[in-house]
Amino acid sequence: MAFKILCVAGARPNFMKIAPLLRAFDAHPAFEAKLVHTGQHYDDNLSKIFFDELQIPRPDRELEVGSGSHAKQTAEVMQRFDPVLAEEQPHGVLVVGDVNSTIACALVVAKFFRNEPFESTFGKRQRPLMIHVEAGLRSGDWDMPEEINRILTDSISDLLYVSDPAGMDNLRKEGVDEKRIEFVGNVMIDTLLAAKDKAMASPVLEDMGLEQGKFGLVTLHRPSNVDDPEMLRYILGTLDEIAKDFPLVFPVHPRTRARIDDAGIKLDEGKWIMAKPIGYLDFMKLTATAKVVLTDSGGIQEETTVLGVLSNNVWWNTERPVTVVEGTNFLAGTNREKILEGYKRVVAGEAAGRVPRFWDGKSATRIVEHMAKVLRVE
Ligand code: UD1
Repeated sequence: MAFKILCVAGARPNFMKIAPLLRAFDAHPAFEAKLVHTGQHYDDNLSKIFFDELQIPRPDRELEVGSGSHAKQTAEVMQRFDPVLAEEQPHGVLVVGDVNSTIACALVVAKFFRNEPFESTFGKRQRPLMIHVEAGLRSGDWDMPEEINRILTDSISDLLYVSDPAGMDNLRKEGVDEKRIEFVGNVMIDTLLAAKDKAMASPVLEDMGLEQGKFGLVTLHRPSNVDDPEMLRYILGTLDEIAKDFPLVFPVHPRTRARIDDAGIKLDEGKWIMAKPIGYLDFMKLTATAKVVLTDSGGIQEETTVLGVLSNNVWWNTERPVTVVEGTNFLAGTNREKILEGYKRVVAGEAAGRVPRFWDGKSATRIVEHMAKVLRVE
């Protein structure tokens, strides 16, 4: 009998995490994996391009929830996922990361009973196993919607797969049973390593008129950085100082684009190269060849760490401390002096630059092998 696992993806950072997991389930005879796309992100350049470039199969189920307030979006995912569970009767549901789709699906699964019970190392049970990949990350900042999503998802998951060593400490401090926690490394790095050669062949530098090592790469989308017009103006004004040294490439997230327009901010096109959100392969090429990456994204901190590119994190805290302790990341916060100091340290090459343990391209396989043990099917 194959164990049916529903894999959930909803927003851009989920797609690169789900791709290697689907392949690893596919390669294991004991599992049948199905993909559910909640539709939290729906623009071609936030969703479809990742499916095409990472060869993710067409979703088996599309919930098409779209945008809305946190409450509306979360509730919409829950309402639309509930009948899918009833029809599919999975043995497990796997969610990744910390977006609204992650907690919405986890919450539905935690209260769902299958028609038939099944055996696992957790005993005989009727509720599907709730599996969280990228568990244990904590920023300590309860103003961040992602922090709420992580804490709640972890607390109702049966299996917690951890990418950052600090995640193990966080979960132990929270009293989570050892039986539920497994350090497996980083599935997003599975995708990065598998796609690296293809990414390096991308013509994006020529297309944008850039030279390797002679530009910076900027991304900004966290609500606390972009939603307040004064903060947005302050951060962009600070980065504009750096743009005096070399051009800054800025693929603009739709949320940020709207806020820049609302605030009437104009960036000097002689120094800034503004673009729409960029696909995975082109973006990895830009990341790998930039002199410095200035970002508030969690995932990009991990990618720069593996690519050995220095990054300056425009953010107070990081839920991914290994990227600072071992990787190439410098945590600058949003203070102007700190950002500029971080930039100077980063271009001077002050970063440890080791690749963390198990960020080796095999994390998805580790997860599937561990699940086979839990379901006693190895
Ligand atoms: C979401 C995640 C965030 C992740 C980010 C990556 C949550 C709480 N946040 O934030 O953790 O880092 O994705 O991008 O889940 N929009 C479009 N097209 C789309 C999707 C959104 O134009 O395909 C616009 C809409 O106006 C929408 C806004 O972007 O209201 C924000 O989208 P949303 O999914 O709510 O949050 P993100 O800021 O993308």
